[in-house]
Amino acid sequence: MLKKIKIVAASILMLVLALGFTSIAVEDTPFKATDSLADVLVKLGDSPNLGKYPKFVDGVSAAAGEAIIKDGFAQKLNGKKTKKQSKHFVCISCHNVVKEDPDLAYPDPQERLEYAVEKGIPFLQGTTLYGAVNRDTYYNGDYDKKYGALVDAARGDVREAIQLCATECAQGRALQEWEIESILAYMWTIDIKMGDLAMAGEEVDFVNEVLNGEDDSRSEALDLLSSKYLNFSPATFSKPPDSRKEGYLDLVGKPDNGKLIYEHSCMYCHEKQKYSYLHLDTHKMSLRHLKRHIDGYTRHSIYQVIRWGVPVKSGKRSYMPQYPQEKMSDQMVEDLRAYLEAS
Ligand code: HEC
Ligand code: HEC
Repeated sequence: MLKKIKIVAASILMLVLALGFTSIAVEDTPFKATDSLADVLVKLGDSPNLGKYPKFVDGVSAAAGEAIIKDGFAQKLNGKKTKKQSKHFVCISCHNVVKEDPDLAYPDPQERLEYAVEKGIPFLQGTTLYGAVNRDTYYNGDYDKKYGALVDAARGDVREAIQLCATECAQGRALQEWEIESILAYMWTIDIKMGDLAMAGEEVDFVNEVLNGEDDSRSEALDLLSSKYLNFSPATFSKPPDSRKEGYLDLVGKPDNGKLIYEHSCMYCHEKQKYSYLHLDTHKMSLRHLKRHIDGYTRHSIYQVIRWGVPVKSGKRSYMPQYPQEKMSDQMVEDLRAYLEAS
């Protein structure tokens, strides 16, 4: 019986897809910059990952998801507010919700910093939630060192990835099903759009020719689009330099760049203790405090906090996430040092 239902469901899906293709072939409409990449991939013959779409259980809405991500709470169906997800953080303490890399295929921390400065967005340890639904795996690279077996479930499952972050990264309560589905619904509003891919004019023309049936190279078009973004966010943890006095060898810090890091990253969380206990600003007091501790072995050394993060102090369940190489290169750490030393 179940088998029969499955077969019927599969044939309906095939029929829908087939109708989809014929309509593309006759429609002859080029894709728009605002079109969702995921939709275009399906039109080109990619199978949709149906499990990644939200389930519309009671109370689910993209607006509720956005509220949880930005404010830490949402309204329930009865109009009452939910309990705050975390006492310490909101999701946007550590994640942007807009595109943060100028080229989605080649994320690079220095280019991201310059892009963040240009767009007026923060420069953070977590990867942007924009495009999260376009990724196939989560907590990649060295994150299994940090979260161990917890990562197993989250690696291939966006819902588990959201839940893991709520409890482990944000140090808060577990999310309910309708909250997770709402976050997913919101994430589908900030998925990758065609106009965000770095594509040359002839590449755009080629994809449009395949879409309107003038060219049948579907798999080439799919490969081309897949090469335009990363379907995972890599993470490589690294250590402070062997000698904190000497710093990372053979690198000369650029104070101007260090200032950008300080203002767009450190101050985002620390200014007026926004998400932390320690206050940091651009006055000499803050800068000199950090400067004095650079070559020390305490939780006030920038090498220590950037590479290893700051663990939870007993009684305070707040902590600072570390920056993997993909979020801050050794050169950038030296740039921050040079800025502090020039103060
Ligand atoms: C204290 C910082 C912090 C907070 C708060 C936080 N996150 Fe994260 N989150 C991270 C870090 C660090 C990672 C590691 C992987 C990455 O993003 O590169 C991560 C990973 C993720 C991932 C997987 C991303 C990937 O591609 O690997 C998702 C999804 C996610 N968080 C969602 C959320 C949601 C939803 C919230 C709010 C309920 C939240 N996070 C709150 C720091 C945080
Ligand atoms: C995502 C938010 C966030 C960012 C970005 C961030 N921090 Fe932190 N930081 C914290 C939190 C939370 C703590 C935990 C202790 C606290 O609340 O002060 C912390 C702790 C620290 C501490 C130890 C304080 C103590 O009293 O033990 C230092 C020093 C520090 N951060 C410096 C930095 C520097 C330098 C940067 C930029 C490279 C930075 N932080 C970026 C959130 C952040």
